[in-house]
Amino acid sequence: MDRAHTLHRRYMEQAQNKQQTHLHDELDALAYLGLRASATYAQIFGAVAAVAEIMPSWQPQTLLDLGSGPGTGVWALSSLLPSLAEATCIDQNAHLLALGQKIISDAQLPVIVTWQQGDVIQPIERDETQYDLIVVANVLNELNAEQREKLLETAFKRCRQLMIVVEPGTPIGSAIAQAAAAQLAPAGRLIAPYIDNNFVEEYFLHFPQRFTRPEFARRIRQEMRDSPLMASDWEEAKYSYVAVGKIPPEETPWGRCIGPIRLMNGYLELPMLLKDQVVQLKVMKRHKQQYAFAKKLRWGQLVMQREALVHPSLG
Ligand SMILES: C[S@@+](CC[C@H](N)C(=O)[O-])C[C@H]1O[C@@H](n2cnc3c(N)ncnc32)[C@H](O)[C@@H]1O
Repeated sequence: MDRAHTLHRRYMEQAQNKQQTHLHDELDALAYLGLRASATYAQIFGAVAAVAEIMPSWQPQTLLDLGSGPGTGVWALSSLLPSLAEATCIDQNAHLLALGQKIISDAQLPVIVTWQQGDVIQPIERDETQYDLIVVANVLNELNAEQREKLLETAFKRCRQLMIVVEPGTPIGSAIAQAAAAQLAPAGRLIAPYIDNNFVEEYFLHFPQRFTRPEFARRIRQEMRDSPLMASDWEEAKYSYVAVGKIPPEETPWGRCIGPIRLMNGYLELPMLLKDQVVQLKVMKRHKQQYAFAKKLRWGQLVMQREALVHPSLG
């Protein structure tokens, strides 16, 4: 429990733009599993589910998870992408890799996983195997800017279809994901969260993924609270992400809802990311069809047609 507490503090006090290691030994690895991994599972799941929404018939078979930790990406994606047959997990931390190996073998996931201990910035330059999907989740914030760029550049060379970068849904995480988008856009296509391959700068792009806390995670949270009130049995993990493709998206949506929907007097207000801008859209109650659609819209969801939210009388 002490380790979970210490780890929590390390993540809260994390420095910006600096290489840093938060996990040092086996106990740290266990604390990561108990405290963080269910939330990072939810983040990866949320980001890849958003990509699957725009690529409904995409069937990747091979995955490279860089900075895989205990293989969180493999757990999350084996249920979301049933086509996945093989995964390679690379991480510098032998304790996390050993835990991942045990969990994945106990869970009998239908994916053949290869575990490699190594530095994700250096050795991948020498290996030229290509993968349908590359995931880099919650890793870039542990590197400095130069290392991030190098990792993204070398990783994208090994990507056959899509690369997905996931970061915590904080202003820093969003800025890192957007810098990754800006770097990779010239070499590929921005699939999500951006619309129609267009980069929109300087907006805090982040998304929620709700999940039920496993019993052990709830107990750890409970112990960490000052208040005797019960820790919630669910959590909303926020994440930022960018998916860059070497294949085109299957859909061309009009926009994406990028924040909570606010109920105002006589209308709903929702932030929408469109092809080239962010707008605060007002949907009037008197436009019944659009209002009903907006009411059910989820933060992060795509909107395929403008007419779904904008009444024809508005031009
Ligand atoms: C916060 S954990 C994320 C683990 C997993 N991707 C997830 O989202 O749950 C960050 C991981 O990146 C790994 N890492 C950081 N820098 C690395 C490097 N240069 N080479 C290999 N692994 C690295 C750490 O060992 C750690 O397991």
